[in-house]
Amino acid sequence: MGNNAGHLTMTAIATVLSPTLDVDQFRELRDIIYEKSGIFYTENKIYLLENRLGRRIKDLGMNSFKEYISHIRSQDGRSEEFHQIYNAVTINETFFFRYQAQLDAFKNKLLVPLIKDRQASGKKRISVWSAASSSGEELYTIAIMVHEVLGTQIKEWDIRLLGTDISHRALKLANEAVYTKNSFRGAMRDQQKQQYFDEDGLIFKLKTEIKDLAQFRYLNLNDDAELRKLRGLDFIFCRNVLIYFDEEMKKRVLRSMYGVLNHGGYFFLGEAESLHGISSSFTVEHFSGAFAYKKE
Ligand SMILES: C[S@@+](CC[C@H](N)C(=O)[O-])C[C@H]1O[C@@H](n2cnc3c(N)ncnc32)[C@H](O)[C@@H]1O
Repeated sequence: MGNNAGHLTMTAIATVLSPTLDVDQFRELRDIIYEKSGIFYTENKIYLLENRLGRRIKDLGMNSFKEYISHIRSQDGRSEEFHQIYNAVTINETFFFRYQAQLDAFKNKLLVPLIKDRQASGKKRISVWSAASSSGEELYTIAIMVHEVLGTQIKEWDIRLLGTDISHRALKLANEAVYTKNSFRGAMRDQQKQQYFDEDGLIFKLKTEIKDLAQFRYLNLNDDAELRKLRGLDFIFCRNVLIYFDEEMKKRVLRSMYGVLNHGGYFFLGEAESLHGISSSFTVEHFSGAFAYKKE
C-alpha cells in the first residue's frame, strides 16, 4: 500500500513536470521539422514528439512547448538545437545483413561482375553510398561483402564506402563500430561474426580491416546542394528512410540521387518500398526475392 502510494505520487509528479503538446503546437512543430529535414509527422505521431522532445525541453529548463517553439523557430537547421531534435525524433532501427535476398543479388549479380569489368579496364575503384546509414550496420555489411569478394587484392583497390545520416547520435555509434546482439538479428553467418568481430562479453567490436573501409558523416537529405556534391557512385542504398518523407520530398531526393549515380549504377530501397509514383527514371531489374533500380 505504502509503496503503491509512493509510486503513484512519483508518476503524478512526472506527469505534472512533462510539458504537454496540443494539436496546434504539434502542427507548428511538425511544420518546422519538415521545413528543415523533410521528415513529415502525421497527426498520430503527436505523442512521439511530445515524449521525445518533452525530455529535451525539461533538460533545457523550459516549461512548455510554446516556449520551446519560439526558441527554435528562427534557428538554422544546422544549429546545435536542431541536431538535438534530429537525435531525438529519428527512428534509427537497423541491423547487419538486413534484407538478405537483395544483398545476395547485390553481391553476386552486380558487385562481382562490376569488379571483373573494372579489373579488366584497370579502373580499380568501387563507390557505394548508404544514404541513411544510421549506426553503420548497413554500410559495414556492404564492406564485409566487398572484402569477401576482393580478398587480399582489396589493398590494390580504391574502395569508397560512404555512410551519411542526419542523426549525430547514430553517426557516433557508426564511428565507434561496437555492437550488441540486437544488431545481429539478420542473416549474418557465425563464421562472418567470428572473422570480422572481436567478442568482448556482451559486445562485438568490428575489426579495423572492415571498419577502415567505411567513412561516415552528417548529410541532411533535405539539403539538395550538399547531396549533389557527391559524385561517381556505383551503388546507392537508400533503405527505410523515404517512408519518413512526404511525396514532394521523396521526389526531390530521388531527382538528386539519380543525378549523382553513375550510368550503369544501381539504386536500392528497403524490403517493403518501391519507387512507384516517385520516379520513373530508372529501369527495374528483378532478382530472386528482390529487385534493384538501374540508371541506364
Ligand atoms: C530506419 S533507419 C534506416 C537505416 C538503414 N538504412 C536500414 O535500412 O537498416 C532511418 C535513418 O534515416 C535517417 N534520416 C531520417 N531523415 C533523414 C534526413 N532528412 N537526412 C538524412 N538521414 C535521415 C534517420 O536518422 C535514421 O538513422
